[in-house]
Amino acid sequence: MRITFAEIDLNALRQNFQLAKKATNGKGVISIVKANAYGHGIIQVSKTLVEEGTNYLGVGFLEEGLLLRRRGFTIPILVLGGVLFSQVRQFLKNDLEITISSLGLAYSVNRQAEKFGSKAKIHLKFDTGMNRIGINHTKAKFVISKIKTLKNIELVGIYSHLAVSEEVDSDYTKLQVERFEQIKKDAEEVGVEPNFYHIANSGGLVNNQNSVFNLVRTGLMLYGISPVQEKSETLDLKPVMAFKSKVVFLKEVDEGEGISYGLTFHTKQKTKIATIPVGYGDGYTRLLSNKSEVLIRGKRFPVVGTICMDQFMVDVGLDSEVQIGDEVVLYGKQGDEEISIQEIADLAGTIPYEITCWLARRVPRVYKK
Ligand SMILES: Cc1ncc(COP(=O)(O)O)c(C=O)c1O
Repeated sequence: MRITFAEIDLNALRQNFQLAKKATNGKGVISIVKANAYGHGIIQVSKTLVEEGTNYLGVGFLEEGLLLRRRGFTIPILVLGGVLFSQVRQFLKNDLEITISSLGLAYSVNRQAEKFGSKAKIHLKFDTGMNRIGINHTKAKFVISKIKTLKNIELVGIYSHLAVSEEVDSDYTKLQVERFEQIKKDAEEVGVEPNFYHIANSGGLVNNQNSVFNLVRTGLMLYGISPVQEKSETLDLKPVMAFKSKVVFLKEVDEGEGISYGLTFHTKQKTKIATIPVGYGDGYTRLLSNKSEVLIRGKRFPVVGTICMDQFMVDVGLDSEVQIGDEVVLYGKQGDEEISIQEIADLAGTIPYEITCWLARRVPRVYKK
């Protein structure tokens, strides 16, 4: 196996799921496993979450749902993204729940389901302020009353999505939740009672208990990353992914030597430079060049020079005991030290979601049970 790998701690995933479940106070959980379970591996992660008792799996688009069905998952699956009419047949054939963001699509789905002699399971998506997909919240009463008349549609859920769930005490989240409450009232007034109402993602769950209706869609926190930076200490989430490699080359370099493409780093004194066989082709972004640190022998060392496609360099100092073959942790724990995915995201100027999603296919995932 390749000496570079991502270690995926399934026990940590289990603990994080139970923590999220507990925070819902007995409500249901849709575990979000889109984008290959945020880079962690959709099959292993989904299996583990089903064992832990997730009520649903949530994916981004049709093909992710089809993959799960092909691999034998029988649990309810909600596809969160927008849908085109040409895809509806596949949803029906594979018992995948459809996000409906327009009345027109609902009519088409109804007709298609009638042709099949089946009932389409749908979740009506309302836009309460994110302006991505969804029916405008002000149209809820009219739309729900029309949906009620469609005989081949089972309205399983009504949902929405928060735009700033990571902000503590956000007035905007309060406004979105109020709008969603109103949609619930509208549905009740026209005599419609879906099984589920859901608006909260991880941030919503952690920051705003009012946003917890009877189902919560958690992604990030399952993977052990705090959705709310201010609460990362108190939440006790366990990071699931660690990124590891080994030193493959080591050499002494004189003072004033330039390192890597573009010679963006020059040594300030004589030192030892270690080469690590990982690069942006693996998802260790070039944006970390001359910024991030790695762990070797339980200590932090700086990444120096530009990160290449398959390799990067680390200044380990002239007196260090670092040897070829030593383990290198790009993020994760080593001894008493830890580099968090949040730290890497901050240095790269992005969010932790993108860091784990960036992990390339060519990096083997090793599952720790
Ligand atoms: C519609 C929807 N719901 C839930 C989630 C999960 O969000 P989080 O990972 O912040 O919990 C996402 C993620 O992007 C999403 O797009």
